Amino acid sequence: MTPYIADSAPIDAAAWQESWDRQQEAYLPDREHRLAAMLDAVAAVADTDRPRLLDLAGGTGTISLRALARFPHAEVTLVDQDPVLLAIASASLAGRAVLGTADLRTPDWQAGLPTGGFDAVLTATALHWLPADRLTTLYAEVRALLRPGGILVNADHMPDDGLPGLTKRLTAHADARRTARWAAGAALSWSDWWQRVTADPVLAAPAQRRREIYPDGHTDSAEFLPTAGWHLDALRTAGFTEVGTVWRGGPDAAVAGVR
Ligand SMILES: C[S@@+](CC[C@H](N)C(=O)[O-])C[C@H]1O[C@@H](n2cnc3c(N)ncnc32)[C@H](O)[C@@H]1O
Repeated sequence: MTPYIADSAPIDAAAWQESWDRQQEAYLPDREHRLAAMLDAVAAVADTDRPRLLDLAGGTGTISLRALARFPHAEVTLVDQDPVLLAIASASLAGRAVLGTADLRTPDWQAGLPTGGFDAVLTATALHWLPADRLTTLYAEVRALLRPGGILVNADHMPDDGLPGLTKRLTAHADARRTARWAAGAALSWSDWWQRVTADPVLAAPAQRRREIYPDGHTDSAEFLPTAGWHLDALRTAGFTEVGTVWRGGPDAAVAGVR
C-alpha cells in the first residue's frame, strides 16, 4: 500500500460519515449487528487492549471507527483504493488510524503494511468486488499477515447453502422495503449518494480520480456472490485452522478464519 496523504480541503467528516452509514444501512439494515459480531470475535482472540487491526477495503472507515470506540488503544490500519472514501476516512479518523491506498486485485497490496502480525483483519461488503480466483488467493495472503491465533472476519452477501429458495424470497422482500424507503426519502441510494459527492465542491476532485479507478462507478460491475459454504471452503484451502460463521442475517453472513 501507499500511505494515503490527504490533499483535499477540509470536509464535514461527521456529516459525510453519517450519510455514508445511512446509505449503507438502506442495503444492510442489520449492519451494526454484523460489525458488533466482528468486534466480539476480536475481543475473543485479542489478549491485549491494543489489538492490531487491519480494516480491509475499509472505505470511509466505519469498521475502524467502531473498533476504536470499543478498543480505544487499538492500532488500526485501513486500506482502500477509493480516493473519495479515503478522504472521508482520513477526516473522520483524524490521525487515529494509518491509511493506505492499495488495489486488492494485485498481490503487492501488502507492501508497506505494518509488520509483526495483525490480531485481526476485518472486512465488510467489499470482497464481492473481487473475482473468485483473486479472492481465494487474497484469503491466503491475509492469513499470512495474521499472527498465530489471529482472525479474519469477512461480512458480506453470502447466502446460506441450504436455503436458495428462501434466500431469493428474503432478498425480494428486502429489495421492496429498500425501494419504498428510497421513494419516501428515508435514505439515499448508492447512485444518489455518489451524485451528492460529485456535486460537493471539495469531494468533486477525488470523485474525478475515482472515475479512473471505477469507470462504471461500480453500479453495474459484476459481483461475485457465492454461498457462505464457498467462503468456508476457500478459507480452509487458504490454510486457516478453524473456519465458521460468526453471524448471519438473512442472505448475509460474517465468516471467520482463525490462523
Ligand atoms: C461498499 S464499500 C464498503 C466499505 C466499508 N467496508 C464499509 O463497510 O463501509 C466497498 C469498498 O471496497 C473497496 N474496494 C473494492 N475493490 C477494491 C480493490 N480492488 N482494492 C481496494 N479496495 C477495494 C471500495 O473502494 C469500497 O471502499
